[in-house]
Amino acid sequence: METCLIIGATGNIGVSAVTAALNSKRNVLAVIRNQNSADKLIKNIGSSEGITFVEADVTSDAGIKGVVDQVRAGKLPAFQHVFSCVGGEYAETPLQEITTAMLRRNMNNSFESNFFAYRDSIGYLLEQNNPISTWTICTGASGDYPLRPLPGMTQGPLFTLATAAARENELTNVRVNELYLALRVEVDEDAIQHGVIKASDFSNVYKLILANTEIRSSRIRVESVDDIKTLRHEKKN
Ligand SMILES: NC(=O)c1ccc[n+]([C@@H]2O[C@H](COP(=O)([O-])OP(=O)(O)OC[C@H]3O[C@@H](n4cnc5c(N)ncnc54)[C@H](OP(=O)(O)O)[C@@H]3O)[C@@H](O)[C@H]2O)c1
Repeated sequence: METCLIIGATGNIGVSAVTAALNSKRNVLAVIRNQNSADKLIKNIGSSEGITFVEADVTSDAGIKGVVDQVRAGKLPAFQHVFSCVGGEYAETPLQEITTAMLRRNMNNSFESNFFAYRDSIGYLLEQNNPISTWTICTGASGDYPLRPLPGMTQGPLFTLATAAARENELTNVRVNELYLALRVEVDEDAIQHGVIKASDFSNVYKLILANTEIRSSRIRVESVDDIKTLRHEKKN
């Protein structure tokens, strides 16, 4: 059975990725911050069946490397897919009020964590040389329309990371794609309260990315509810 390594598994987008993997008969290797985060994930998914949990500090440059080392050592399940969606604070703070500490914390949580996730997992997928492999990152339209400057500024470099990774893997066994989201998605309980898209509904997007072997080195744009049902994708260059 295939396994998806999901980094940021306990957040809104992570829950949708876990749902997609489980609903498409794949297992999940979920990177979690601590047991509280694992409990939150189990509550949102409704079960822990099919999920292996591994604690790691995704903000550290040793975090994902340590997880992959454990996979190589046979202590954790082998994986064929990676989905990365570590996020920072969804804060409205205007530019002048962003302290240096806030800026650095958010660049670390959002940009660096996703960079480490790529840098330290892609080598394993390449070594396995499995033609079904995928590596997917979630970015957001706030990078283009920074109504919230802090999360917006940390998205910009993720676009660049995704483009470079898509280029470097154009001819490898790994389909690298960027999921560009311009809607608000939250875990189901919160989404119902706030009138936004439910993570369970949004999960269809990752399910389709995993299934459609034609989509590679591309940006998948989700800008309307219809885009959740039928993927709109364009090659990155
Ligand atoms: N939700 C949306 O509608 C939306 C739209 C467009 C783009 N995006 C992008 O998608 C990504 C994820 O968004 P989200 O809404 O899923 O965010 P979220 O709910 O805040 O989840 C963030 C994830 O990152 C983890 N994380 C954050 N800081 C951490 C730290 N210091 N140490 C360990 N883990 C940490 C969280 O772990 P814990 O659960 O332990 O806190 C969680 O798994 C972001 O880049 C965001 O910009 C989201």
